[in-house]
Amino acid sequence: MIKVKDIAHVRLRAPDLDKMERFLLDFGLARSARSDDALYMRGTDPEHHVHITERGEPGFVGMAFEAASADDLRAVATIDGASDPTPIDEPGGGTRVEFTDPNGFRVEIVHGIQRLDRLPLRPRTGVNDGSTHGRLGELKRMEPGPGQVKRLGHLVLFVRDFRESEAWYKSRFGFLTSDEAYLGKPEDVIMAFMRCDQGDAHVDHHTFVCAGTGEPGFNHAAFEVEDLDDIMLGHQYLTSRGHEHAQGVGRHLLGSQIFDYWKDPWGNMVEHWTDGDLLTAHTPPATHTVEAALGSQWGPAVSP
Ligand SMILES: [Fe+2]
Repeated sequence: MIKVKDIAHVRLRAPDLDKMERFLLDFGLARSARSDDALYMRGTDPEHHVHITERGEPGFVGMAFEAASADDLRAVATIDGASDPTPIDEPGGGTRVEFTDPNGFRVEIVHGIQRLDRLPLRPRTGVNDGSTHGRLGELKRMEPGPGQVKRLGHLVLFVRDFRESEAWYKSRFGFLTSDEAYLGKPEDVIMAFMRCDQGDAHVDHHTFVCAGTGEPGFNHAAFEVEDLDDIMLGHQYLTSRGHEHAQGVGRHLLGSQIFDYWKDPWGNMVEHWTDGDLLTAHTPPATHTVEAALGSQWGPAVSP
């Protein structure tokens, strides 16, 4: 087993790369590379790309997690079902080890993909909340535009057998359970919010979520933006561009993030989020009902 550092990218297929790019630009990503057959989009953080679209029939292909070191990449290649470490023949390069998960999804463990200069964020100001005044004598002025995506934060999948997939991912990649949820009886756990094990370092409350006992499929990929202004600027911009809203704006219970869900032109759900919980490896897991797990602290509940 290794302990992956973070999620690296999501990989989808779509027949029209121009149409996908237009949506993703409106969503707040930026083009990193483009070929006849694939589109690579990035956030403002240095990762070369966080969203890949291959030209083809619409669908979800898989995702990549980042190995913490070249040694870890070699180690993960010794696990049953792993490919050999292979140079990545795509923009940004790097090396990958590939798996197929129990649902047939492609899982890449990557290392050494090129990092780029950060893209500029819109000018930031301090915050004047009720108790602390961080913006004294400074005016807040923002131009309309996309909510700028910084990075990919997490991915949620429906799986054939929750316990099977949970064990598969945890035993290979070191995920820890932050929260799990049951339907009906407490022993009938059907989903878990999992985070990366980085010891004393704080990581996102969830990097990977799997849920269900039925038809496997993609639920959503979630992209971090700077703050609530970016969520709301993005919401207004995506609305003005005629894109399909899915759910939000609200603040989740598990993970605590402020969320806003949208659909790309093929119905793949993507989330803008900000202000999520950050945990070390020392926080013990908790168990909830599914109703509580999908509830919101404010804003709309996530539909079952
Ligand atoms: Fe999410």
